[in-house]
Amino acid sequence: MSDSTKTPRSDGQATLEALLAEDRAFPPPPKFAAEANVSDPAIYQRAADDLEGFWADQARKLDWFEPWQTVLEWNLPFAKWFVGGKLNVSYNCLDRHVKAGQGDRVAFYWEGEPGDRKTITYAQLLDDVQRCANALKELGVRRGDRVTIYMPMIPELPTAMLACARIGAPHNVVFGGFSADALADRIDDSQSKIVITADGGFRRGKAAALKPQVDEAVARTGIVDTVIVARRTGEPVNMVDGRDLWWDDIVPRQAADCPPEAMDSEDMLYLLYTSGTTAKPKGILHTTGGYLTGMATTHRDVFDIKDDDIYWAAADIGWVTGHSYIVYGPLANGATGLMYEGTPDYPDPGRWWEIIERYKVTILYCAPTAIRAHMKWGPQYAARHDLSSLRLLGTVGEPINPEAWMWYHDHIGHGRCPIVDTWWQTETGMIMITPLPGITTTKPGSATKPFPGVDADIVDADGHSVPLGKAGYLVLRKPWPAMLRGIYGDPERYQATYWSRFPGAYFPGDGAKRDEDGDYWLMGRVDDVMNVSGHRLSTTEIESALVSDPRVAEAAVVGRPDELTGEAIFSFVILKSGVETTPALGEELRAHVAHKIGAIARPKTVMFTPDLPKTRSGKIMRRLLRDIASGRQLGDTTTLADAGVVETIREASAKSADEE
Ligand code: PRX
Repeated sequence: MSDSTKTPRSDGQATLEALLAEDRAFPPPPKFAAEANVSDPAIYQRAADDLEGFWADQARKLDWFEPWQTVLEWNLPFAKWFVGGKLNVSYNCLDRHVKAGQGDRVAFYWEGEPGDRKTITYAQLLDDVQRCANALKELGVRRGDRVTIYMPMIPELPTAMLACARIGAPHNVVFGGFSADALADRIDDSQSKIVITADGGFRRGKAAALKPQVDEAVARTGIVDTVIVARRTGEPVNMVDGRDLWWDDIVPRQAADCPPEAMDSEDMLYLLYTSGTTAKPKGILHTTGGYLTGMATTHRDVFDIKDDDIYWAAADIGWVTGHSYIVYGPLANGATGLMYEGTPDYPDPGRWWEIIERYKVTILYCAPTAIRAHMKWGPQYAARHDLSSLRLLGTVGEPINPEAWMWYHDHIGHGRCPIVDTWWQTETGMIMITPLPGITTTKPGSATKPFPGVDADIVDADGHSVPLGKAGYLVLRKPWPAMLRGIYGDPERYQATYWSRFPGAYFPGDGAKRDEDGDYWLMGRVDDVMNVSGHRLSTTEIESALVSDPRVAEAAVVGRPDELTGEAIFSFVILKSGVETTPALGEELRAHVAHKIGAIARPKTVMFTPDLPKTRSGKIMRRLLRDIASGRQLGDTTTLADAGVVETIREASAKSADEE
């Protein structure tokens, strides 16, 4: 089903040309630079000259129960960092701050969508985590056991993650927007016997239930023996005797004393499933010492975090951004963070700006999609609030168009705040290409430079480095401490997916270009992965969901450029003979995909077509389909089995109806 990694896509090329016409540049404001955590550009040379020494210096800022013997063991593509060292992530995120007299410091300001609020100090979070850890132990969870967590954005979510880290049980957080089927796959693959969930969460003013999906998923997998349910919405919930327990019945009665396990630096901290180019999601495996070192370092240096900052990563903990930059990085640095449960436009599009004013947020980190949504709603909402506390802005998850960058800079940052456009992935664990806000001159749309110690390059199809100004494939040549250690249970897939396209280098699947200053401009995925609203989705996974409907014979899914969501899901569907094409059927198929994977995967467009363009060897030609979906001129069609197919599809395309 894949024609991946041919050339960086033509839509990326067009975007890139527009981006490179961009000549605005913003040096760090002098006051910001003078006070920044990192202000000496020598950091780049230092890290390049002595990679291991650089990272060892960073790792020493954490508390280790036992020191490491070797900084790095690198047997390409398998890395081990801080070998022999022992530490505990929850100890580093909580105990050491409390021991240093910081127990009363706020770890999280939490705000629920209905407007309820909580302030959680480091001392309190440590208590909660220890009680939760003891509850897990009472339920038989042992070091090494995987725990699946499927929760809304409530304080119990980071509590549960840190409790797992405390007892050495890797967590597997599944985003609450995923369906029962998607949850079941992730429970199965990770072999979790326990699930932590909630009755539901609030979204757009309504209670959105989670427990029914858990019931359905657990019935399907047959391996879960315990479900812990936190109370959030108060809606009625079906509790299964002998299997389901209320959080409130088991956690609060535990002792608030649970000694942290001394974990090996290379012990698994968590699994996080992400979409690849096949129908089966990959369990990305992150370990302990290197990961936490990467998080603490990048969070401190990229976000310039200071004691008096109020830091808000407006993301969901169910994705890697939340793992790394809501939970582990900020807590490792003893920062004060903000967690918000709901949507940005409830009860109206001023909600974020009201939150920033109320808590005097100083650093905001969000996805370009959210910025584009705010642009659409209009700057009047932000203008009604005092945003003068903000001093630094960040973006993540997808390329940011210069227009959105400038809007963010002008209407939110009031021209005063540097913007860090951070490129990274679930697999990289930490930010990899980014400005350092006290050093880097930023340009709207460019993620600028690799983080110190990150050895990035851009290569052509044969793996040769391309000159400045030319587009190609982004690769990373040296290991970094937070890198994934593998795909859970599938070392061959790890090697094949990331390390075989360009021998000796990690291939993240992105196209990119460097400008004359050596600044990086990311151009989007070059494989069968889409990026919709900063969420990563596999075309193949959606195709599988479509063909699981008995009326569908074949399906092909591509991303189409979309002003708001970056890319939108466009699906071509061939029905089985005798099945009638109706608008209702299109709607049913869209709902079917949402049911199979989750609402985020619901195609925006379903186009019924009599055939699909294929190469002589039978591969679907996605490049052509992308051209058709976005209404562009067709490229070379000579490898088509039947060039007439394209015309047929094109005609059908003119008739296809968008859902709006
Ligand atoms: O294509 C890149 C895009 O998001 C992909 C990673 O997705 P995921 O693992 O879900 O992690 C998202 C949050 C880190 C990348 O391969 N991407 C991420 N950040 C940027 C980006 N593309 C351009 N610019 C970025 N700043």
